[in-house]
Amino acid sequence: MIRRVVAIDGAAGSGKSTLARGLALELGVPYINTGLMYRGLTAAALQHGVDPEDEGALVGLLDGMSFTLSRTNPPELEIEGYASAALTTRDVELTVSTVARHPGVRERLRILQRSLGEDGAVMEGRDIATVVFPDASIKLFLVADEGERSARRARERLGYDPTDIAEALRLRDARDARTNPLKAAPGATVIDTGALDIEASLAEALRIVRLAWDEDES
Ligand code: DC
Repeated sequence: MIRRVVAIDGAAGSGKSTLARGLALELGVPYINTGLMYRGLTAAALQHGVDPEDEGALVGLLDGMSFTLSRTNPPELEIEGYASAALTTRDVELTVSTVARHPGVRERLRILQRSLGEDGAVMEGRDIATVVFPDASIKLFLVADEGERSARRARERLGYDPTDIAEALRLRDARDARTNPLKAAPGATVIDTGALDIEASLAEALRIVRLAWDEDES
């Protein structure tokens, strides 16, 4: 339980990345966005013509991929050969839920996630507090209504049609829900990032973490 892991889960566009990176910077631990791992594998599958339904081929692809932490502040996940722009393309968005559905893929990525986070991290995803680090000392579950999440994605993805973004988000939510019924882990604190702005969400999250970590030390 003493492990310095902050687990952050929530739906697409719930504000996980901004909050997680900000927290990691404040706490001096790596920021690990596990969605990028699923996206990286999806980009690799698209590039190599691997069928996103073919679990064995996907696991084979994963074996040849390299996931490391950058030397930036905070350290962040890097996927050799894949710049971040390649991970947010429309094709990746449309295919990633299919790739993420395979138990074999999830099992491999889970092992990598645990090893990347074992010395402490802020880790974000869909199943971090429920499956990857169920013993994380801090569990945050972010929520925001659908309109807010679409608007946030539209601000992040300038140049895309907002109606397209809203539709893609709805589709991905529905597909993702089959893999990870999004629900807060026992003991998780729910933060509504639609009601609080980013500074207020970060301040609230920091307050929760410092309180818990100070208690551990005393
Ligand atoms: O967080 P994101 O939207 O970048 O994640 C991309 C996809 O990866 C998402 O549609 C579902 C999948 N994912 C997952 O299944 N489990 C995680 N821990 C993180 C992401």
